[in-house]
Amino acid sequence: MTPPPSSVRANSAAARDIANVLHPYTDLEKHQEVGPVVISRGKGVRVWDDAGKDYIESVAGLWCASLGFDNERLAQAALAQMRKLPFYHAFTAKSHEPMIDLAEMLIARAPLPMSKVFFANSGSEANDSAIKMVWYFNNALGRPKKKKLIGRIKGYHGITIGSASLTGLAANHRSFDVPLPGFVHTITPHHYHGALPGESEEDFATRCADELEKLILAEDPDTVAAMWAEPIMGAGGVIIPPRTYYEKIQAVLKKYDVLFVADEVICGFWRTGTYWGSQSLNMQPDMIVCAKALSSSYLPISAVMVNDRVFQGLAKESHAIGTFGHGFTYSGHPVPAAVAIETLKIYDELDIGNHVADVGAHLQAELRARFAEHPLVGEVRGMGMIGAVELVADKAKHANFDPSAKIGARLTALCEANGVIARSLSGDVLAFSPPLIITRPEVDEMLDRVGAALGELTTQLQREALAKPVAGTPHETRAE
Ligand SMILES: Cc1ncc(COP(=O)(O)O)c(C=O)c1O
Repeated sequence: MTPPPSSVRANSAAARDIANVLHPYTDLEKHQEVGPVVISRGKGVRVWDDAGKDYIESVAGLWCASLGFDNERLAQAALAQMRKLPFYHAFTAKSHEPMIDLAEMLIARAPLPMSKVFFANSGSEANDSAIKMVWYFNNALGRPKKKKLIGRIKGYHGITIGSASLTGLAANHRSFDVPLPGFVHTITPHHYHGALPGESEEDFATRCADELEKLILAEDPDTVAAMWAEPIMGAGGVIIPPRTYYEKIQAVLKKYDVLFVADEVICGFWRTGTYWGSQSLNMQPDMIVCAKALSSSYLPISAVMVNDRVFQGLAKESHAIGTFGHGFTYSGHPVPAAVAIETLKIYDELDIGNHVADVGAHLQAELRARFAEHPLVGEVRGMGMIGAVELVADKAKHANFDPSAKIGARLTALCEANGVIARSLSGDVLAFSPPLIITRPEVDEMLDRVGAALGELTTQLQREALAKPVAGTPHETRAE
């Protein structure tokens, strides 16, 4: 066993973590020296570490604990289901009420007519399932060549082999030998960085659609099966596409008979201010993937909804083969399904949409009022209860810091010191996706703490700039 670093008490939870846990999304070598933040309990929008320090969770864990960290009804729903039927499966036409009820509730709440729901356990698994459904569907239609899938640069769809191949982020590809062949990526619809000088949002959206069409033509439309999109890109930087983007993109997809899959893993369940991100952003997908806030993440569950055209294809092919040979042991597991049912009921009862309209508007206004003019802030963006503050080295040129400066990581460390668990995304983007139940005073407290952290970072960077000799200064001339 590696001995714990001197800053970590022997036999503490942190020391045992270092000795035994392989962490996702962590510098594994550095972790051996630095160790974890051990979170021990939660209440409302806050969590506490094992030393008793409180933090406001500005990203609801991983954009997911929508009802906060102590919802008793969800705990009771799980317990009641555990006692009644702790496990059953959905293979070979077996079923149970929680899965049936949840499927019915999702279909009733879908943003456009959907036919059936398939359950999985994570966003990645749901996206991988949807990928396989697209391939199966095109085999059913006698189009065995039509299999390529389009993601977007900076899109995030998870980390299983298929979903990581759709993902368009270097950290998820590098050294993992993905994307697989047959996965291609179109441009990121981010006006702030991607637009040409003077290009309007609408013109940029037209260019994004033109680029998509060029890609489809270059690949050969007879080989392109589907495109995936998060309504608002989450992990890629909280990127809201330009006005008219989805109308234009969808026209191209229709022209070449390419299916459209909405990845609502972050945006679903009121995050953007409407029940689905597809509604806020004007998307009409053939398939919808959701997870996270489906159960407020109290237990793992995800879903793929398919429209009737897709379902008829799957049904036909499965009948020809004799079975739809796909499914997880835990597909539709009754306990997470019961928690998800309770979660959806709570959203309705709390009228969480109205709450998001009110507090989300406050969050958006405060983010802009407090940070937009800050010299280190390039863009403040967001919608509903999701937002971002992007730090830049040069405000006028929209130029990011050199990634090696790890500015975002420095800011999140300062946020933690100030009592906020924050998430910085590549490009030094500080994301905000708090529990949907957050109140106006809690938003203010969260932003006060983030503001203090940003103030400290600014002072540090100013000091470092003063300490650093600049080319052409007398000091450097002397050194030469
Ligand atoms: C849009 C989107 N899709 C898919 C995923 C993957 O979900 P999971 O981590 O549950 O596999 C995520 C996770 O953050 C996501 O944000």
